[in-house]
Amino acid sequence: MAHDKSDDKLAIYRSGEVAASYDRRWRGSSGRARDQRKQRALGRALEHFDGARSVLDVPCGTGRFHDLFASRGWRYCGADAASAMLTVAREKCGTSNWIAGDLTRLPFADRSFDLALCIRLMHLVRDERLREAFLAELARVSRIGVIVDYRQDQALRVWLGNARAKLGLRAKRPGALPLEHIRREVESSGLAVREFVPVRRVPYLSDKIVVVALHRATPSAPAPRP
Ligand SMILES: C[S@@+](CC[C@H](N)C(=O)[O-])C[C@H]1O[C@@H](n2cnc3c(N)ncnc32)[C@H](O)[C@@H]1O
Repeated sequence: MAHDKSDDKLAIYRSGEVAASYDRRWRGSSGRARDQRKQRALGRALEHFDGARSVLDVPCGTGRFHDLFASRGWRYCGADAASAMLTVAREKCGTSNWIAGDLTRLPFADRSFDLALCIRLMHLVRDERLREAFLAELARVSRIGVIVDYRQDQALRVWLGNARAKLGLRAKRPGALPLEHIRREVESSGLAVREFVPVRRVPYLSDKIVVVALHRATPSAPAPRP
């Protein structure tokens, strides 16, 4: 699958220098707060995965979410297209499974993992068909479902970005999408969206949204007792 020009920014993660400094963004008080907000939103999204024990984290980057799953006793596998990011992940997190792989063609059989997790990728990809190809692959390798994050357009920073683009103060409008577009796109993979988990509780403060999407045959909660 060809990546369009707007996806070139994904290539920066192949650089050893970028990989080595990637985790700095989660340091300092605002970096830590951003990371904690995302981890909290993921904790809430995981409530839909009762009984799940294995996760494929792709792209895993430097292993940001390894501990979230290891601390819950899940079998964790991280995959990423950039070996530089995987090198940092291995050094930082130790011996878990770290695999070089492209999200358009993952080296796993169908339904190999209970959950497929995809964080901080979709907003970097302007090509909708490529995003759909990623989603199809996430759906294929997962048994229960997928957690994926997007940028949604009902947020102050998106409105500001749009205004700056209009005034010529930035090159492109932010790549944020309406929630209904995100739902359609995610459901193009055959999954059903069960929840949009906002990363911040106050409306309009964050453009980040975590989407929980399950395979249609999977009930989202245990069946009620008779
Ligand atoms: C912004 S980082 C996100 C990493 C991690 N999920 C996090 O939240 O820190 C984006 C990652 O996507 C990886 N990537 C880009 N294109 C990919 C592809 N087609 N398949 C797998 N990984 C890809 C990059 O190598 C990079 O590590």
